[in-house]
Amino acid sequence: MRLPELVSEGTTELGPLASAAGAHPESLKRLLRHLVHIGLFAEAEPGVFGLTDLSRQLLSEGGTWLRSWLDVEGPGARMDLAFSGMLHSIRTGESSYGVVHGAPFWDDYQRNDGLRRFFGDVMAAHAWQTGPVLAAEVDWESARTVIDVGGGQGALLAEVVRANPHLRGEVLDLPAVAREADQALSEAGLAGQVSFVPGSFFDPLPPGRDVYVVSRVLTDWNDEDAVRILQRCAEAAGDSSRVLVVEVLAGVDHAKYNTSFDLQSLVLLGGQERSVADFEALVDKAGLSLVKSRTWPGGLVVVECRLPR
Ligand SMILES: C[S@@+](CC[C@H](N)C(=O)[O-])C[C@H]1O[C@@H](n2cnc3c(N)ncnc32)[C@H](O)[C@@H]1O
Repeated sequence: MRLPELVSEGTTELGPLASAAGAHPESLKRLLRHLVHIGLFAEAEPGVFGLTDLSRQLLSEGGTWLRSWLDVEGPGARMDLAFSGMLHSIRTGESSYGVVHGAPFWDDYQRNDGLRRFFGDVMAAHAWQTGPVLAAEVDWESARTVIDVGGGQGALLAEVVRANPHLRGEVLDLPAVAREADQALSEAGLAGQVSFVPGSFFDPLPPGRDVYVVSRVLTDWNDEDAVRILQRCAEAAGDSSRVLVVEVLAGVDHAKYNTSFDLQSLVLLGGQERSVADFEALVDKAGLSLVKSRTWPGGLVVVECRLPR
Protein backbone atom coordinates (compact mmCIF):
# COMPACT_ATOMS: atom_id res chain seq x y z
CA MET A 1 0.00 0.00 0.00
CA ARG A 2 3.11 2.19 -0.06
CA LEU A 3 2.45 3.42 3.49
CA PRO A 4 6.12 4.24 4.21
CA GLU A 5 6.30 6.26 0.98
CA LEU A 6 3.10 8.14 1.85
CA VAL A 7 4.27 8.92 5.38
CA SER A 8 7.68 10.07 4.15
CA GLU A 9 5.96 12.36 1.64
CA GLY A 10 4.03 14.02 4.48
CA THR A 11 0.72 12.12 4.59
CA THR A 12 0.91 11.26 8.27
CA GLU A 13 -2.67 11.29 9.60
CA LEU A 14 -4.96 8.29 9.50
CA GLY A 15 -7.76 9.83 7.39
CA PRO A 16 -5.58 11.17 4.56
CA LEU A 17 -3.44 8.01 4.70
CA ALA A 18 -6.55 5.85 4.24
CA SER A 19 -7.73 7.96 1.28
CA ALA A 20 -4.31 8.00 -0.37
CA ALA A 21 -3.81 4.25 0.11
CA GLY A 22 -7.36 3.33 -0.90
CA ALA A 23 -7.98 1.71 2.49
CA HIS A 24 -10.87 1.15 4.89
CA PRO A 25 -9.95 3.68 7.65
CA GLU A 26 -10.88 1.55 10.69
CA SER A 27 -9.02 -1.47 9.31
CA LEU A 28 -6.02 0.63 8.35
CA LYS A 29 -5.97 1.98 11.89
CA ARG A 30 -5.75 -1.59 13.21
CA LEU A 31 -2.99 -2.43 10.74
CA LEU A 32 -1.04 0.70 11.66
CA ARG A 33 -1.40 -0.14 15.35
CA HIS A 34 0.29 -3.45 14.61
CA LEU A 35 2.97 -1.84 12.40
CA VAL A 36 3.76 0.61 15.24
CA HIS A 37 4.00 -2.36 17.59
CA ILE A 38 6.56 -4.13 15.36
CA GLY A 39 8.59 -0.93 14.85
CA LEU A 40 7.79 -0.04 11.24
CA PHE A 41 6.12 3.25 12.21
CA ALA A 42 6.13 5.59 15.19
CA GLU A 43 2.93 7.18 16.51
CA ALA A 44 4.11 10.50 17.92
CA GLU A 45 0.57 11.54 18.86
CA PRO A 46 -2.66 9.55 18.47
CA GLY A 47 -3.48 8.99 14.82
CA VAL A 48 -0.31 10.71 13.51
CA PHE A 49 2.38 8.45 12.12
CA GLY A 50 6.08 8.88 11.45
CA LEU A 51 8.96 6.84 10.10
CA THR A 52 11.34 4.74 12.20
CA ASP A 53 14.86 3.46 11.42
CA LEU A 54 13.25 0.34 9.97
CA SER A 55 10.93 2.15 7.56
CA ARG A 56 13.74 4.55 6.61
CA GLN A 57 15.89 1.55 5.77
CA LEU A 58 13.09 0.10 3.68
CA LEU A 59 12.81 3.38 1.76
CA SER A 60 16.56 3.74 1.21
CA GLU A 61 18.24 2.93 -2.08
CA GLY A 62 19.61 -0.26 -0.52
CA GLY A 63 16.03 -1.38 0.15
CA THR A 64 14.96 -1.33 -3.51
CA TRP A 65 14.99 -5.12 -4.01
CA LEU A 66 13.47 -5.73 -0.61
CA ARG A 67 10.63 -3.33 -1.42
CA SER A 68 9.82 -5.13 -4.64
CA TRP A 69 9.93 -8.56 -2.95
CA LEU A 70 7.68 -7.29 -0.13
CA ASP A 71 5.11 -5.79 -2.49
CA VAL A 72 2.20 -8.10 -1.72
CA GLU A 73 0.62 -7.35 -5.10
CA GLY A 74 3.92 -7.70 -6.95
CA PRO A 75 5.63 -10.60 -8.72
CA GLY A 76 8.04 -11.37 -5.87
CA ALA A 77 5.18 -12.04 -3.48
CA ARG A 78 3.43 -14.09 -6.17
CA MET A 79 6.51 -16.33 -6.26
CA ASP A 80 6.80 -16.44 -2.47
CA LEU A 81 3.16 -17.47 -2.18
CA ALA A 82 4.19 -20.82 -3.65
CA PHE A 83 5.58 -21.51 -0.16
CA SER A 84 2.01 -21.67 1.11
CA GLY A 85 1.73 -24.95 -0.84
CA MET A 86 4.97 -26.38 0.52
CA LEU A 87 3.24 -29.34 2.09
CA HIS A 88 2.31 -30.53 -1.42
CA SER A 89 5.97 -30.18 -2.49
CA ILE A 90 7.33 -32.06 0.50
CA ARG A 91 4.81 -34.84 -0.01
CA THR A 92 5.26 -35.18 -3.77
CA GLY A 93 8.63 -33.65 -4.70
CA GLU A 94 6.80 -31.40 -7.15
CA SER A 95 6.37 -27.65 -7.46
CA SER A 96 3.44 -26.24 -5.52
CA TYR A 97 3.16 -23.10 -7.68
CA GLY A 98 0.38 -24.61 -9.83
CA VAL A 99 -1.52 -25.77 -6.75
CA VAL A 100 -1.43 -22.22 -5.36
CA HIS A 101 -1.85 -20.19 -8.58
CA GLY A 102 -3.68 -22.60 -10.91
CA ALA A 103 -0.87 -22.89 -13.50
CA PRO A 104 2.77 -24.02 -13.37
CA PHE A 105 5.35 -21.26 -12.89
CA TRP A 106 6.69 -21.25 -16.46
CA ASP A 107 3.16 -21.01 -17.93
CA ASP A 108 2.31 -18.12 -15.63
CA TYR A 109 5.68 -16.53 -16.45
CA GLN A 110 5.01 -16.61 -20.19
CA ARG A 111 1.66 -14.86 -19.96
CA ASN A 112 2.35 -12.50 -17.03
CA ASP A 113 4.59 -9.70 -18.35
CA GLY A 114 5.26 -8.21 -14.89
CA LEU A 115 6.31 -11.55 -13.41
CA ARG A 116 8.57 -12.36 -16.37
CA ARG A 117 10.26 -8.95 -16.37
CA PHE A 118 10.82 -9.08 -12.61
CA PHE A 119 12.31 -12.58 -12.82
CA GLY A 120 14.46 -11.57 -15.82
CA ASP A 121 15.68 -8.44 -14.04
CA VAL A 122 16.62 -10.46 -10.94
CA MET A 123 18.61 -12.88 -13.10
CA ALA A 124 20.23 -10.09 -15.13
CA ALA A 125 21.25 -8.36 -11.90
CA HIS A 126 23.29 -11.45 -11.03
CA ALA A 127 25.28 -11.41 -14.26
CA TRP A 128 27.86 -9.12 -12.62
CA GLN A 129 28.74 -12.12 -10.45
CA THR A 130 29.09 -14.75 -13.15
CA GLY A 131 29.72 -12.70 -16.31
CA PRO A 132 33.20 -11.21 -15.78
CA VAL A 133 34.62 -14.47 -14.41
CA LEU A 134 33.13 -16.53 -17.21
CA ALA A 135 34.34 -13.98 -19.78
CA ALA A 136 37.88 -13.89 -18.45
CA GLU A 137 38.54 -17.37 -17.11
CA VAL A 138 37.11 -19.63 -19.79
CA ASP A 139 39.08 -20.15 -23.03
CA TRP A 140 37.12 -18.28 -25.72
CA GLU A 141 40.05 -17.88 -28.12
CA SER A 142 39.29 -20.99 -30.14
CA ALA A 143 35.52 -20.27 -30.31
CA ARG A 144 33.67 -18.19 -32.90
CA THR A 145 30.04 -18.93 -32.04
CA VAL A 146 28.35 -19.24 -28.65
CA ILE A 147 24.73 -19.90 -27.78
CA ASP A 148 23.36 -19.24 -24.30
CA VAL A 149 20.62 -21.83 -23.78
CA GLY A 150 17.93 -20.38 -21.51
CA GLY A 151 19.94 -17.17 -21.56
CA GLY A 152 17.09 -14.85 -20.50
CA GLN A 153 17.68 -11.21 -21.39
CA GLY A 154 21.25 -12.01 -22.45
CA ALA A 155 23.02 -10.23 -19.57
CA LEU A 156 25.55 -13.01 -19.07
CA LEU A 157 26.33 -13.43 -22.75
CA ALA A 158 26.69 -9.66 -23.05
CA GLU A 159 29.59 -9.77 -20.57
CA VAL A 160 31.22 -12.62 -22.47
CA VAL A 161 31.01 -11.09 -25.96
CA ARG A 162 31.99 -7.63 -24.75
CA ALA A 163 35.24 -9.08 -23.41
CA ASN A 164 35.64 -11.28 -26.51
CA PRO A 165 34.61 -9.19 -29.52
CA HIS A 166 35.54 -11.94 -32.00
CA LEU A 167 32.54 -13.99 -30.77
CA ARG A 168 29.10 -14.11 -32.39
CA GLY A 169 26.43 -14.88 -29.82
CA GLU A 170 22.87 -16.16 -29.66
CA VAL A 171 20.48 -16.20 -26.72
CA LEU A 172 17.92 -18.99 -26.90
CA ASP A 173 14.92 -18.56 -24.65
CA LEU A 174 11.13 -18.82 -24.67
CA PRO A 175 9.46 -16.65 -27.35
CA ALA A 176 7.79 -14.57 -24.60
CA VAL A 177 11.23 -13.30 -23.54
CA ALA A 178 12.04 -11.90 -27.02
CA ARG A 179 10.89 -8.35 -26.34
CA GLU A 180 12.88 -7.93 -23.10
CA ALA A 181 15.95 -9.61 -24.56
CA ASP A 182 15.92 -7.57 -27.78
CA GLN A 183 15.55 -4.38 -25.77
CA ALA A 184 18.35 -5.31 -23.32
CA LEU A 185 20.72 -6.33 -26.13
CA SER A 186 20.06 -3.18 -28.09
CA GLU A 187 20.52 -1.00 -24.97
CA ALA A 188 23.82 -2.80 -24.37
CA GLY A 189 24.85 -1.87 -27.93
CA LEU A 190 25.16 -5.56 -28.83
CA ALA A 191 22.28 -6.00 -31.27
CA GLY A 192 24.79 -6.61 -34.09
CA GLN A 193 26.82 -9.16 -32.18
CA VAL A 194 24.15 -11.14 -30.30
CA SER A 195 20.76 -12.25 -31.60
CA PHE A 196 17.76 -13.75 -29.85
CA VAL A 197 16.55 -17.21 -30.90
CA PRO A 198 13.01 -18.02 -29.75
CA GLY A 199 12.53 -21.63 -28.75
CA SER A 200 12.50 -24.24 -26.02
CA PHE A 201 15.52 -26.10 -24.72
CA PHE A 202 13.43 -29.27 -24.70
CA ASP A 203 13.29 -29.09 -28.52
CA PRO A 204 16.23 -29.60 -30.91
CA LEU A 205 18.74 -26.74 -30.56
CA PRO A 206 20.61 -24.92 -33.34
CA PRO A 207 23.40 -27.31 -34.29
CA GLY A 208 27.15 -26.88 -34.56
CA ARG A 209 27.80 -23.86 -32.32
CA ASP A 210 31.29 -23.81 -30.80
CA VAL A 211 30.02 -23.30 -27.25
CA TYR A 212 26.68 -24.11 -25.61
CA VAL A 213 26.27 -22.28 -22.28
CA VAL A 214 23.63 -23.55 -19.84
CA SER A 215 23.70 -21.05 -16.99
CA ARG A 216 21.61 -21.23 -13.83
CA VAL A 217 19.03 -23.29 -15.68
CA LEU A 218 19.47 -26.85 -14.39
CA THR A 219 18.64 -25.81 -10.81
CA ASP A 220 15.13 -24.98 -12.05
CA TRP A 221 14.49 -28.59 -13.03
CA ASN A 222 14.41 -32.09 -11.58
CA ASP A 223 17.09 -34.58 -12.66
CA GLU A 224 15.05 -36.04 -15.49
CA ASP A 225 14.35 -32.67 -17.13
CA ALA A 226 17.90 -31.41 -16.46
CA VAL A 227 19.26 -34.44 -18.32
CA ARG A 228 16.83 -33.78 -21.22
CA ILE A 229 18.16 -30.21 -21.55
CA LEU A 230 21.76 -31.45 -21.59
CA GLN A 231 20.82 -34.16 -24.12
CA ARG A 232 19.50 -31.47 -26.48
CA CYS A 233 22.88 -29.72 -26.14
CA ALA A 234 24.72 -33.01 -26.79
CA GLU A 235 22.61 -33.68 -29.92
CA ALA A 236 23.29 -30.21 -31.29
CA ALA A 237 26.98 -30.11 -30.42
CA GLY A 238 29.63 -30.93 -33.02
CA ASP A 239 32.84 -32.87 -32.38
CA SER A 240 34.71 -29.74 -31.38
CA SER A 241 31.86 -28.01 -29.51
CA ARG A 242 31.97 -27.44 -25.76
CA VAL A 243 29.01 -27.42 -23.36
CA LEU A 244 29.49 -25.20 -20.29
CA VAL A 245 27.20 -25.74 -17.31
CA VAL A 246 27.36 -22.60 -15.17
CA GLU A 247 25.86 -22.35 -11.69
CA VAL A 248 26.38 -20.27 -8.55
CA LEU A 249 25.77 -22.90 -5.96
CA ALA A 250 26.92 -25.70 -3.82
CA GLY A 251 29.58 -23.91 -1.77
CA VAL A 252 29.47 -24.95 1.84
CA ASP A 253 28.71 -21.37 2.85
CA HIS A 254 26.02 -21.08 0.22
CA ALA A 255 24.34 -24.22 1.47
CA LYS A 256 24.56 -22.94 5.03
CA TYR A 257 23.00 -19.56 4.37
CA ASN A 258 20.69 -20.35 1.46
CA THR A 259 18.79 -23.42 2.48
CA SER A 260 15.68 -21.34 1.76
CA PHE A 261 16.82 -20.98 -1.87
CA ASP A 262 16.85 -24.76 -2.27
CA LEU A 263 13.30 -24.90 -0.91
CA GLN A 264 12.33 -22.04 -3.23
CA SER A 265 13.60 -24.09 -6.21
CA LEU A 266 11.42 -26.94 -5.00
CA VAL A 267 8.18 -25.08 -4.30
CA LEU A 268 8.43 -22.70 -7.24
CA LEU A 269 9.78 -25.02 -9.92
CA GLY A 270 10.21 -28.58 -8.66
CA GLY A 271 13.95 -27.94 -9.08
CA GLN A 272 16.87 -28.36 -6.72
CA GLU A 273 20.29 -27.13 -5.75
CA ARG A 274 23.12 -29.50 -6.58
CA SER A 275 26.79 -30.09 -5.85
CA VAL A 276 29.54 -30.17 -8.49
CA ALA A 277 29.46 -33.98 -8.31
CA ASP A 278 25.69 -33.92 -8.96
CA PHE A 279 26.21 -31.77 -12.09
CA GLU A 280 28.94 -34.11 -13.29
CA ALA A 281 26.54 -37.04 -12.87
CA LEU A 282 23.88 -35.23 -14.95
CA VAL A 283 26.39 -34.50 -17.69
CA ASP A 284 27.37 -38.16 -17.75
CA LYS A 285 23.72 -39.30 -17.94
CA ALA A 286 23.19 -36.96 -20.91
CA GLY A 287 25.99 -38.72 -22.80
CA LEU A 288 28.51 -35.89 -22.54
CA SER A 289 32.12 -36.30 -21.50
CA LEU A 290 33.44 -34.24 -18.62
CA VAL A 291 36.51 -32.16 -19.53
CA LYS A 292 36.94 -30.30 -16.26
CA SER A 293 35.04 -28.59 -13.45
CA ARG A 294 36.24 -25.33 -11.97
CA THR A 295 34.98 -23.32 -9.04
CA TRP A 296 35.64 -19.71 -8.05
CA PRO A 297 35.11 -17.88 -4.78
CA GLY A 298 31.47 -16.90 -4.36
CA GLY A 299 30.35 -20.38 -5.41
CA LEU A 300 30.61 -20.00 -9.21
CA VAL A 301 30.91 -23.44 -10.78
CA VAL A 302 31.67 -24.15 -14.44
CA VAL A 303 31.43 -27.74 -15.60
CA GLU A 304 32.95 -28.04 -19.07
CA CYS A 305 32.09 -31.00 -21.27
CA ARG A 306 32.21 -32.30 -24.85
CA LEU A 307 30.92 -35.14 -26.92
CA PRO A 308 32.77 -38.38 -26.13
CA ARG A 309 35.70 -38.91 -28.54
C1 LIG B 1 16.95 -18.99 -13.82
S1 LIG B 1 16.82 -18.25 -15.40
C2 LIG B 1 18.52 -18.22 -15.94
C3 LIG B 1 18.79 -17.11 -16.92
C4 LIG B 1 20.23 -16.99 -17.41
N1 LIG B 1 20.70 -18.19 -18.06
C5 LIG B 1 21.18 -16.59 -16.29
O1 LIG B 1 22.15 -17.29 -16.02
O2 LIG B 1 20.93 -15.55 -15.67
C6 LIG B 1 16.10 -19.54 -16.35
C7 LIG B 1 15.80 -19.18 -17.78
O3 LIG B 1 15.25 -20.32 -18.43
C8 LIG B 1 14.29 -19.87 -19.36
N2 LIG B 1 13.40 -20.99 -19.72
C9 LIG B 1 12.46 -21.60 -18.97
N3 LIG B 1 11.89 -22.60 -19.66
C10 LIG B 1 12.49 -22.63 -20.87
C11 LIG B 1 12.36 -23.46 -22.01
N4 LIG B 1 11.49 -24.48 -22.04
N5 LIG B 1 13.15 -23.21 -23.08
C12 LIG B 1 14.04 -22.17 -23.06
N6 LIG B 1 14.22 -21.36 -22.01
C13 LIG B 1 13.44 -21.59 -20.91
C14 LIG B 1 13.61 -18.74 -18.65
O4 LIG B 1 12.93 -17.87 -19.53
C15 LIG B 1 14.79 -18.06 -17.95
O5 LIG B 1 15.35 -17.07 -18.77
